[in-house]
Amino acid sequence: MQLELLLPALNGLSASVFVVDSDRQILLVNDAGRALFGNDLIGVDFVVAIRNPACLEAINQVLQGDKKSEAVITLQKPVKTTFRVAVASLVSKAEMPQENQPRAVVSLENISHIFEAEQMRSEFVANVSHELRSPLTALNGFIETLKGAARDDEEARERFLDIMEREANRMNRLIGDLLSLSKVEADARVRPQEQIDLRLLIKQAIAVLQPLATRENVELCLSIADDFETLISGDQDQLQQVFVNLVENAVKYGQTGGVVTIAITGKERVVGVRGPAIQIDIIDQGAGIKSEHIPRLTERFYRVDKGRSREKGGTGLGLAIVKHILARHRGRLQVASEIGKGSTFSVFLPR
Ligand SMILES: Nc1ncnc2c1ncn2[C@@H]1O[C@H](COP(=O)(O)OP(=O)(O)OP(=O)(O)O)[C@@H](O)[C@H]1O
Ligand SMILES: [Mg+2]
Repeated sequence: MQLELLLPALNGLSASVFVVDSDRQILLVNDAGRALFGNDLIGVDFVVAIRNPACLEAINQVLQGDKKSEAVITLQKPVKTTFRVAVASLVSKAEMPQENQPRAVVSLENISHIFEAEQMRSEFVANVSHELRSPLTALNGFIETLKGAARDDEEARERFLDIMEREANRMNRLIGDLLSLSKVEADARVRPQEQIDLRLLIKQAIAVLQPLATRENVELCLSIADDFETLISGDQDQLQQVFVNLVENAVKYGQTGGVVTIAITGKERVVGVRGPAIQIDIIDQGAGIKSEHIPRLTERFYRVDKGRSREKGGTGLGLAIVKHILARHRGRLQVASEIGKGSTFSVFLPR
């Protein structure tokens, strides 16, 4: 059979596919293989094209008589990529391998995304465990003290119980946030259908946060034109969560005695949003955020100032949840900040 007849079919595959002879010389390579490993591969020894001991071993096994073999390899260049290598023999054991005849098929499938997902998952589990352990350790410590040294000290007991309550609340919030994150992720592909009046929804978010703002001596200020149309389709609870989160951050990390402005406007074109959008700016007069932190704010558990966020009862999941909810709504978040002046978190939602 003419090897070249296979090419159109092999070029349709996303994996890199090679055919080699009994000397490991490359006889055929598909488009994907050429794109990754270069154009001048015909006649070249496979190990010269792809220098990797495990890959070589897998090919040699087949050339020495095995029907097939497999390996997982990581190549560092041009970018670090992990491949699943599969080698299959083209001749049966009885057949004599002839020189320069097709002897084996080698395919390399990029599986980096699986590796990365696995790595993210284990980092996430490590983070969650750590975040749960610190309040739990505190609780255990106070329980010990209350059972021992502070048993008959009424004043200490009161104080410790207050701290224990705070720590227990923190765990509760963390678990609540984890649950809503996993719910948003589960719904990621379901388009939200409810008809929502954003103006009303944001007024409700402001009302929810009024007590906190009063405590922090922050003035909440809504700015929107009277005749501005704010009906969109979305998920009521999730969008409520977005604005509560963002306004809460602006109050928590803004300036005491300052103003937090929530401004709603329209925008004809926004990068990353299809069609006209509604823009909601949440503007604070806080300390601002250094530019190197901004791209990382929406990572799970990322906090600029760990101590400050914890002290304010933060879990570091708020903006991660915001980002996922906006993605589900085909919207996006944009952050601008100036040190010493404050930050603006802008939400764009398609109309
Ligand atoms: N308006 C803001 N000004 C300055 N820093 C901010 C602002 N909003 C968020 N940040 C920083 O971004 C970090 C991440 O915010 P995020 O809302 O995800 O977590 P959190 O507020 O710490 O916890 P949670 O929202 O779960 O209670 C915060 O810890 C804070 O350091
Ligand atoms: Mg927050």
